[in-house]
Amino acid sequence: MALSKYLLPGSHHYRGYVGYGGSYDLVGALQFNVLTYVGLREKHSLLDIGCGSLRAGRLFIPYLKPGKYFGIDPNKWLIDDAIKYELGRDLIRIKRPTFSYDDNFTLTTFAKEFDYLLAASIFSHAPQKQIRRCLSEAKQVMKRNSIFVATYFEGKSSYTGDKWVYPGGVTYTPQHMMEMIGEHGLTFRRFDWPVPSSQVWILIYYPENAKNIPNADDEAKILNLRNRFRSRILSKFVQPLFLKSK
Ligand SMILES: C[S@@+](CC[C@H](N)C(=O)[O-])C[C@H]1O[C@@H](n2cnc3c(N)ncnc32)[C@H](O)[C@@H]1O
Repeated sequence: MALSKYLLPGSHHYRGYVGYGGSYDLVGALQFNVLTYVGLREKHSLLDIGCGSLRAGRLFIPYLKPGKYFGIDPNKWLIDDAIKYELGRDLIRIKRPTFSYDDNFTLTTFAKEFDYLLAASIFSHAPQKQIRRCLSEAKQVMKRNSIFVATYFEGKSSYTGDKWVYPGGVTYTPQHMMEMIGEHGLTFRRFDWPVPSSQVWILIYYPENAKNIPNADDEAKILNLRNRFRSRILSKFVQPLFLKSK
């Protein structure tokens, strides 16, 4: 485990397979941060598309209420190893995540709609055919106010091959990405949040939900979060103490 930080993407180790071993913790944390910033709370349901070795799942599963985390990935061994070495069986028993080991983006397999969807480092390796399939399935499991968070490599040209590329990656122009997303009646917005590689974050949503989609530097939203936190702390703990002391 100590040497896992030197692993290269694609290596046969659950931490290294999904990216540089040394950034396993940070990349998971960034995904967790983005999702909670855009509104994910413990009561919500989350579909982690290409969840891999639960780099982010190991943070989402304890955070969410039981039965709210869903992961899909064709490589069952990644999920098995993550459960064995990161989460442990007790947490799985308590939080009851659901997994599907599928390589055709069959998101409808869960027969459920999700509040949030995540595809981190998936479109960055996928051919157009798979992205379209994923979006078409995603649309069927999204509510009108769901937010689908994804990353991709933005480039000056779009990948035209038909194979999944990994390790390595593929680029798409923003216009092309918009075209593929638009074909399914959805739209997207760039979300300017750090990613250790040169990928970009995007938020995919129904156009009529645009007013609820935050920007990464949304001052009003940050203020709102801060005020909510302050007022809860004040009303629950500080104010009662203050009143008592009078
Ligand atoms: C770069 S890793 C990212 C994993 C995870 N999202 C993360 O950030 O740690 C790419 C993942 O996509 C998965 N994958 C490959 N083909 C897939 C497919 N057809 N459908 C869903 N996931 C796929 C791989 O098994 C791997 O776990």
